[in-house]
Amino acid sequence: MALDQELSPAHSTRSADWVRLDDLHDDPYPVYARLRDEAPVAWVPAANRYLVTRYANVHHVDNDPETFSADETGSLMKRVMGHSLLRKDGASHARERKAAGVPLRPKAVKETWTPLFRRNAERLLVEMRDAGEAELVSQFAAPYAAANLRDIIGLPEVSPEDLTAWSQAMMDGTGNYADDPTVWARSEAATQAVDDALAEALPRLRANPDDSMISAMLHAEDPLSPAEISANVKVTIGGGLNEPRDVLGVAVWALLTHPEQRTRVLTDPRLFSVVFDEAVRWTSPIGMYPRQTTREVELGGAMLPAGARLGVVVGSANRDPRQFEDPDAFDIDRPRKAHLGFGSGAHYCLGAWVAKASVGQVALPMLFDQLPGLRLSGRRPVRAGGWVFRGLLDLPVAWDH
Ligand code: HEM
Repeated sequence: MALDQELSPAHSTRSADWVRLDDLHDDPYPVYARLRDEAPVAWVPAANRYLVTRYANVHHVDNDPETFSADETGSLMKRVMGHSLLRKDGASHARERKAAGVPLRPKAVKETWTPLFRRNAERLLVEMRDAGEAELVSQFAAPYAAANLRDIIGLPEVSPEDLTAWSQAMMDGTGNYADDPTVWARSEAATQAVDDALAEALPRLRANPDDSMISAMLHAEDPLSPAEISANVKVTIGGGLNEPRDVLGVAVWALLTHPEQRTRVLTDPRLFSVVFDEAVRWTSPIGMYPRQTTREVELGGAMLPAGARLGVVVGSANRDPRQFEDPDAFDIDRPRKAHLGFGSGAHYCLGAWVAKASVGQVALPMLFDQLPGLRLSGRRPVRAGGWVFRGLLDLPVAWDH
């Protein structure tokens, strides 16, 4: 069967017609619990994919890239951003990952980027402190993540506001299954703006290498082409900004609503790293990513045809009671077991060390240290949303000043 052939639900042994996208957006966890129990690999018409919801099956898919390809046909991400490493398999993926990953290794994160994270957090805290209250996602988490990312990528002249707007417009494009022309126009304007910024950066970094990702891709042993660099920069802008923002909001909210855990963390700030990791498990910022079968295969009791589009639901795998005891609880004392919030296998998140350091080691301790009495302001209810990407939509907080 041709890989791009449209597959009908009839190919599935189990169809979950009852799943609604609105429910997934508002609170996906009860839906995931039912899917894991009744149909762990199910055709879900609303998502137009087979959703894989148990930990063991998700882990299996991630670690068998020959059967479960990242190179999805008809991928809107490829249409919007070009063919980045995230949608490649095998040797071509490994070549690009090797080049792009150099500045994201633990040593570079510790020595080069962590001082930058501190400066960026300090600057934002100084701006906020006297107000005594803020919406923490838009006023701290988002600008912090953007300010960090632009230097890591190698576009220091781009404003955090522009980077944030480009990221949102491109991500809206990758989800534009409704084919809305306004969404395409906005995502095309954003990708053009990234390419314009790159046209300025490439000659500069070719002549003067620095510690950034663009420089690493240009000066690799096997240098990447401008088209490869462009796609990888776009996917990093799309994927490296919202996730640290979202885990930061979730982690703060978790501590503000679990006072006994907060007290322990404040007496032993090394525990902020555990808070970070538990927040990624509990409310995984990337809740679902796609894969496509290259052959007919049995998975979790379902027979999948070749070319089947899968949704790998790490947001569900990380709440699977077969893997984690009392999985819906936020609990920094739970036995540490590997979660799948950064994926696993060949595409394991390249930015995991950046995220751990910028959120777990810098932003969380600084926020709780410099905003005494940090609490929910109660002005509006806290809101969370999303399932493909999930985070807080509104986190009104206050502190003593
Ligand atoms: C808490 C924050 C983050 C989370 C939860 C997260 C999650 C993920 C996940 C689940 C994947 C695998 C997706 C797949 O297999 O299809 C991934 C890949 C990736 N992430 Fe992250 N990410 C985070 C932060 C970052 C940051 C800060 C950067 C950049 C500095 C980044 C760059 C990347 C890249 C380049 C890939 C593609 C790797 C590859 O294809 O080999 N991520 N991330």
